[in-house]
Amino acid sequence: MGFSAGILGTGACLPEKVMTNFDLEKLVDTSNEWIVERTGIRERRIADPETATSDMCLKAARAALKDAGVKAEELDLIIVATATPDYMFPSTACIVQDKLGAAHAGAFDLAAGCSGFVYGFSVASQMIASGLYQKVLVIGAETLSRIMDWTDRNTCVLFGDGAGAAVVGRVEDGYGVLALELGSKGSGAMELYQPAGGSRRPATHETVDGHGHFIHMNGKEVYKFAARIMPATCKRVLAKAGLTIGDVDMLFPHQANQRIIDNAVKHLKIDPAKVWVNIDKYGNTSAACIPICLTEAQREGRLHKGDNVLVVAFGTGLTWGSMLLKWAK
Ligand code: COA
Repeated sequence: MGFSAGILGTGACLPEKVMTNFDLEKLVDTSNEWIVERTGIRERRIADPETATSDMCLKAARAALKDAGVKAEELDLIIVATATPDYMFPSTACIVQDKLGAAHAGAFDLAAGCSGFVYGFSVASQMIASGLYQKVLVIGAETLSRIMDWTDRNTCVLFGDGAGAAVVGRVEDGYGVLALELGSKGSGAMELYQPAGGSRRPATHETVDGHGHFIHMNGKEVYKFAARIMPATCKRVLAKAGLTIGDVDMLFPHQANQRIIDNAVKHLKIDPAKVWVNIDKYGNTSAACIPICLTEAQREGRLHKGDNVLVVAFGTGLTWGSMLLKWAK
């Protein structure tokens, strides 16, 4: 192992427009009570029609660079984790690279659904640890409202728009990433997917009329997967780092469903006061969830240098990722 890699700064962007459960009651056959009780979500943010994913990336990135005291020209690489890029190609990361003025950075997008930020951080941290790069920008960003079926109550109540970013770089020895795990279960690929628009089912009038370009989800199967994998992967990264749940100062779980988070808390036997939850305000912002949570916690003074920070996410693929960091800031 070469250099220790950790988070130097964070930033987030959340659209101003708030959509409440009461707004959704007017669109589909649902109720505020059902959504709050079954998911914990009260409202979510929706991007205005002029805003695309790269626009939110840019705002989150600028905030993260400022927080880190790093200039865009210093970046070696930009990774954007997203399932809702501006275009099929080129990558959203290239659009961000240009607008940011990151003249010396490579750029690519990464597809791991809601686990995307953890996947992106893993790549970034290992490129830094190897000595290849010094500063990498990792962004998780989604404009999920654009692929939402606003007639499907099973999905449209769950998601929101937003972006979060982290500047990853060298930190003091003993700080930064302590352990990581990435995983996948491709046999569950069709449990949460966008059926049309790719090479399997290119866009036709029929795919548009048939709602093929929207999110399709088997909620029960995803729920079961999440309930099983979250505590399991957390336990494994803790073991890898030689730590126990009692050593964890803060847990940042993916914000998909309050009941999934509660289940993980119960199985891990962690004090709920150490668990960051903002699902009530933003819903599930997929790859943006974790960096938005980290940004909020940092701004609210809830993260301190030396804290053991456990992060866990799961998503389409199916994928999961967890990581343990000794907070370096
Ligand atoms: N409002 C009212 N009723 C709704 C509803 C809504 N928004 N959405 C679903 N229902 C109904 C269903 O149609 C079903 O009715 P039926 O029994 O007449 O068929 C009933 O509620 C129960 O559905 P069920 O699927 O058992 O609900 P649930 O308690 O499992 O909650 C989810 C559904 C989607 C909230 C839950 O399964 C979930 O969170 N899954 C994981 C999703 C996830 O995390 N996705 C992102 C991964 S990154």
